Amino acid sequence: MSTFIELSYIISAVLFILGLKMLGNASTAVRGNSISAGGMLLAVVVTLLHRDIVSYQWIIAGILVGGGIGAIAAVRVSMTSMPEFVALFNGTGGLASLMVGWAAYYGMAGDYGDLEIPRGDVVVQVVATFLSVLIGGVTFTGSLIAYAKLSEKIDGKPVLFTGQQWLNGLVLLSVVASGVIFVINPDAPAAEIAFYVTMGLAFVFGVLATIPIGGADMPVVISLLNSYSGLAACAAGFVIGNTVLIVSGSLVGASGIVLTNIMCKAMNRSLAHVLFSGFGSAGGSTQSGGEQGEAKSLTAEDAYYVLEAAASVVIVPGYGMAVAQAQHVVRELAELLEKNGAEVKYAVHPVAGRMPGHMNVLLAEADVPYEQLVEMDDINPTMETVDVCIVIGANDVVNPGARDDESSVIYGMPIINVDLARSVFVLKRSMASGFAGVQNPLFFKENTRMLFGDAKATVTQLVNEFKGA
Ligand code: TAP
Repeated sequence: MSTFIELSYIISAVLFILGLKMLGNASTAVRGNSISAGGMLLAVVVTLLHRDIVSYQWIIAGILVGGGIGAIAAVRVSMTSMPEFVALFNGTGGLASLMVGWAAYYGMAGDYGDLEIPRGDVVVQVVATFLSVLIGGVTFTGSLIAYAKLSEKIDGKPVLFTGQQWLNGLVLLSVVASGVIFVINPDAPAAEIAFYVTMGLAFVFGVLATIPIGGADMPVVISLLNSYSGLAACAAGFVIGNTVLIVSGSLVGASGIVLTNIMCKAMNRSLAHVLFSGFGSAGGSTQSGGEQGEAKSLTAEDAYYVLEAAASVVIVPGYGMAVAQAQHVVRELAELLEKNGAEVKYAVHPVAGRMPGHMNVLLAEADVPYEQLVEMDDINPTMETVDVCIVIGANDVVNPGARDDESSVIYGMPIINVDLARSVFVLKRSMASGFAGVQNPLFFKENTRMLFGDAKATVTQLVNEFKGA
């Protein structure tokens, strides 16, 4: 039986890795997702057949309660609230791992000395229990803070106070001390106190580690917390000796770190800078630096005449496109432009929207051909040859202040250089700033025209102009 179980776990792990690899390419991504899901199904079924950890009644009750809450939440959540939802998911993953460690501690407390397994293995298990509680706790409260910041339930500004680094250092030292007490002799009465102290400190540290991070750096935080939830699951896998949980946790942990690195590059920040500098203040400075003046607006009808004559058009989607749910009508406009002889591309910024891959998901949902999507680094060198850039609900990711204005809070973040195109149309409802809370000098440039209104309504008007022509 155990050979069969281990073999099934290996097959699951192989399916996870194959699926992940296939997610790297748009043409194989859907199949990759199914293959990974198949791997998970196999792992769950085999575990249920093998393990006699709790009774099936409890498992069914858990599925009904958890699945019910998940289903209702998933149906109710709007697409624009997805990032907060993902943050909560990461948090519950962390909490689940913490609970596994907690339960394991009670399952084994007092037994460590009697276990007829080598001392080395006991140490691994005790350390894993400690880590699953520590990382799980940090992930849980850290994700709650990220959720509250993203959903604007609390201010997105970095919370900084005197002595903050000292306090963080003190908490870390206390964690190490309680860890040592717990691991040296988990059966001792002091170990139980150390266990709960660790749990409490983990919760505190999750909060302390996330509050100094500003709203604009949240893309990095989301991917980092995702990675933590994987590491917590991996530690939980060691606690209960489940190979497939160790493998899947490591995969989530590693891919989260890779994503964190990609996000850091997209924001042009080092991870240390994001975590410790208190930068990325949402709602911070609103100066635009450089020229202001009056923004010039345009009607959809006039915009149509310019588009009608354009040979190359680049569409830059942003968070506003998600809010307006304009992706389908944007694809329709792109098709009409192509029919009219223009070359159309979509320029996607890595942190456009509110979660990694946000724009890619929306455009894929609208069946935009993947080959038309161009990354920031590839589109920028061609920008001066572009006739019209249509900026649809994007703001921070096309803000020239990030490139030119050293006093801007987003200075240094790479942007899509739409201002270098011959003409720029900006579709948004008002002159309001984007997520980072900074004014955008793009709106006041000579070659920029504002098309005010809901993005879906404006693009629909453009589509109608083409159809009516
Ligand atoms: P933002 O800078 O947030 O700007 C979005 C713009 O869309 C707003 O200026 C808003 O202006 C407009 N808008 C909203 N609803 C609209 C509607 N119905 N129709 C038309 N326009 C609408 O977006 P971005 O350029 O995509 O930049 C993303 C920002 O979010 C970055 O600062 C990034 O760091 C941050 N962030 C990203 C992530 C990830 S992982 N992608 C996670 C958290 C935070 P009006 O109100 O005037 O319409």
